[in-house]
Amino acid sequence: MNDKGQPGRILLLPGDGIGPEVFVPVLGMLETIRKSGKANLEWEEAYIGGVATDKTGVPLPPETLQKVDRANAVLLGAVGGPRYDTLPYELRPERALLGIREYLGAFANLRPARIFPELVGASTLKPEVISDLDLMVVRELTGGIYFGKPRGIVTEGGVRRGINTETYSEPEIARIARVAFELARKRRKKVTSVDKANVLESSVLWREVVGLVHKDYPEVALEHMYVDNAAMQLVRNPKQFDVIVTGNLFGDILSDEAAQLTGSIGMLASASIGGKTGLYEPIHGSAPDIAGKDLANPLAMILSLAFLFRYSLDREDLAGQIEGAVRAVLSQGIRTSDIQGEGSVKVVGTREMGDRVLREFSNAQGR
Ligand code: NAD
Ligand code: IPM
Ligand code: MN
Repeated sequence: MNDKGQPGRILLLPGDGIGPEVFVPVLGMLETIRKSGKANLEWEEAYIGGVATDKTGVPLPPETLQKVDRANAVLLGAVGGPRYDTLPYELRPERALLGIREYLGAFANLRPARIFPELVGASTLKPEVISDLDLMVVRELTGGIYFGKPRGIVTEGGVRRGINTETYSEPEIARIARVAFELARKRRKKVTSVDKANVLESSVLWREVVGLVHKDYPEVALEHMYVDNAAMQLVRNPKQFDVIVTGNLFGDILSDEAAQLTGSIGMLASASIGGKTGLYEPIHGSAPDIAGKDLANPLAMILSLAFLFRYSLDREDLAGQIEGAVRAVLSQGIRTSDIQGEGSVKVVGTREMGDRVLREFSNAQGR
């Protein structure tokens, strides 16, 4: 995308809970960019998750998918909430999330855990353990136990049984491994493949295929690690990791753990790529415990917009300016309550944090 060519068309899916709250500064940034003339952008909104079920009867309505088809990039807030937890499985908000990832073919979920130097004191871990942390979780996103069949709840002889299937094909493993090695090549050249090959056949194949793909990347070091050990190593010595590649379920769990290393789950953005259109979302959920209370940290959402500019619209300049604005506000000691700690000068709410980042960003646009 450039200023004169086709517009970058962004689909906005705020979703449920804190989703719409953390979206406010994102809308402000898009407006600021449009006014500055620095990019030719168009955007529209659609429903996903619980709010979509409320409005249309289903969590991922056809109108939303039509808008997905028109978009160059999709930005999502969060879905879910206790109100929807008792709905039939197919109507649950989380189904929409899996549905849109599958629809887009976004098989590679990049969840980078980098700590802002300003937040080293905000982590629950010791500064020496997490300072300069910079690791990348590459989570397989459209396969594994999340999608495997058979699945369901069946009744056999009057006894109910819940069934899910962990399954990975060789091509599915090879393509996610390739993403990890390509990323590692431009980083510190180390891939840790996380599996449970001491117990699961799907992991035995995973380990073998990752090893085969590795042959094309001799300059990258590969190690294999069992997931239980990886969970422990992540809090013991996270700086040993560069790129972690793993399946859908293990990646879900380990990325929440990695998020906390950076201070809060409210800091971690993600990019889901590999399909025609990229999907960008914070890794956190709808946080029903704090929704509507002006307590949510909007930075993961704001940083997801930066990823969108970087990976889908090829606008490293705008991505850098967004990240710079976040950094500037953190360096002033401004914190939401989840990241307060040493170095915090003023604890603010969602709105004020968003306003301040937006102001920094707008100033950078004027330059
Ligand atoms: P969650 O990520 O919503 O919240 C976990 C904890 O982290 C909560 O204490 C919450 O207050 C806190 N938290 C999360 N985001 C925060 C932020 N931006 N700022 C400050 N604190 C933050 O996970 P959960 O409570 O297990 O799930 C709640 C709902 O969200 C469920 O319905 C779940 O299915 C859904 N969910 C959705 C997504 C998504 O849309 N991508 C991701 C995870 C969970
Ligand atoms: C995430 C979430 C989702 C997942 C849920 C809500 C379906 O936890 O994006 O990390 O498990 O992928
Ligand atoms: Mn998760």
